[in-house]
Amino acid sequence: MKNGVKRIGIMTGGGDCPGLNAVIRAVVMMADKYGVEVIGIPYGYRGMLLGGDYFHKLTCEDVQGIIEKGGTILHSSNKDNLFKYPRRNKEGFEHDENGKLIYDNFSETAVQNLRDAGIDAMIIVGGDGTLTSGRDYSRMGVPVVGVPKTIDNDLRSTEITFGFDTAVSRCVQAVESVRTTGEAHSRVMFIEVMGRNAGHIALHTAISSGADVVLIPEIPYHFDKLVAELRRRLERNGTAIVIVSEGVTPPEKGAYSTKIVEGSPDAVRFGGVSGVIADYVERALNADRDENGYAISEVLMDVECRATNVGYAQRGGVPTANDRLLSTRFGAFAVKELLENLVLDEKGNFGRMVSVQENRLTSVSLEEVIASSTMIGNQRRVDPEGELVQLARNVQISFADE
Ligand code: F6P
Repeated sequence: MKNGVKRIGIMTGGGDCPGLNAVIRAVVMMADKYGVEVIGIPYGYRGMLLGGDYFHKLTCEDVQGIIEKGGTILHSSNKDNLFKYPRRNKEGFEHDENGKLIYDNFSETAVQNLRDAGIDAMIIVGGDGTLTSGRDYSRMGVPVVGVPKTIDNDLRSTEITFGFDTAVSRCVQAVESVRTTGEAHSRVMFIEVMGRNAGHIALHTAISSGADVVLIPEIPYHFDKLVAELRRRLERNGTAIVIVSEGVTPPEKGAYSTKIVEGSPDAVRFGGVSGVIADYVERALNADRDENGYAISEVLMDVECRATNVGYAQRGGVPTANDRLLSTRFGAFAVKELLENLVLDEKGNFGRMVSVQENRLTSVSLEEVIASSTMIGNQRRVDPEGELVQLARNVQISFADE
C-alpha cells in the first residue's frame, strides 16, 4: 500500500439512490483486502459535525447482505452543508431582520473530527451539492474521492450514474400496471416520473414501455397538440399512456406550485404536475364533442384521465443488477484511487471523482468537475436533437411539440 492511507472515512449525502449500499460494501471489502480500515460517517455531513461516537468502524460482517438493499445503511441528508449551515432555534430556522436565513460555517469542526478519528482520506458519495462540499474539504487538506450518484443521470462529469437504471425499471413496471387498468376503463393514463429539470428518466421510460406521449422539460409541449394527439390515440386504441417528467410546466401559469425546502442547496421540489395536466386534458377532450354529444365515439362518450406519480418508489427498493455492478465498480475504484493514485497537488490537496468516460472507469479532478458545471442549473439534459429523441419519434412516441 502506498501513500500511508490506513483509515478511510465514507459518507453518503444528498437524496438516496439505489446502489448506495453496494458502493459502501465495495469500499469496505476492497479496503479490507488491502488492510485498510473504513469508518462509516452517518447522516451525511451532519454526521461529520457530530463526530465522536457517531463515527463507527465498518467491517466485512457489517456489509454482508446489503448489496441488494436500497437506501443507505449510513443514512443521508440533503441539507447539511457545513460551510453554510442554517442556524436553528425553537421555531425552526433562524432568520435575520430581512427574513434571510442565518448561516454558520462548521467546516473546521468537521475536519477536526476527522483528524481526531484518525481518518486519512474520505470517500464522499453524493450529487451536485454533496460533491461541491467534497471539493471544499479537499481544499482544506482532506484527501477526497467523490463517487457521483443520482437517479436523474444528469451529471455532466460522468456518462452514467448508478440508480438511474433502477429508477427507469421501476417506472416501466409502473406503466405496465397502470396500462391494464387504463385499458379496462378506456382512460388516458398519465404517469409522472422524477428527474428534476432533466427528462432522462421520462424518455427512457417512454421508449422502454412503448408509451404514446412523453413530456420532458427540454422539449416544450403545446397543449392543443397534446389534446389532438391524445384524441387520435384514443380513436385508434381506446386508451393512451402519457409519461410526464416532473419538471415540465403546467398548461397555464400559476396552475401548479412547487414546494420549497428551506436550507437545501437546490430548494425547489417538484411533484404533482401530471395531475394538473390530466385535469386540463380531460376538460379539453370532453369540451369538443360530435353531433351525438360523444367526446370520441359511442363507447368513449366521455373521456377520463387519471394521473399516477411513481414518486419515491423509483428511488428506493432493490437495485437492478446493472446498478449493483456499477456501484460496486465505483466503490472499488474509489478505494484504488486513494491507495494507488493519491498524489497531492501543488497546494497540498487531493480531490478526485470517479467517472465513466467513453464507457470506461476513470477519475476526474473534483476542482474541474465543480468549476465546469457550476452545479445547480447546469445539469446534463436530454439533447432534443439526440439519438434517443429521434428514436422515440421514429417509434411514434409524441412529444406533443409538432
Ligand atoms: O435528484 C434526485 C431526486 O430524486 C429528483 O428526481 C427529485 O425531484 C428529488 O430528488 C426529490 O428530492 P427530495 O428527496 O428532497 O424530495
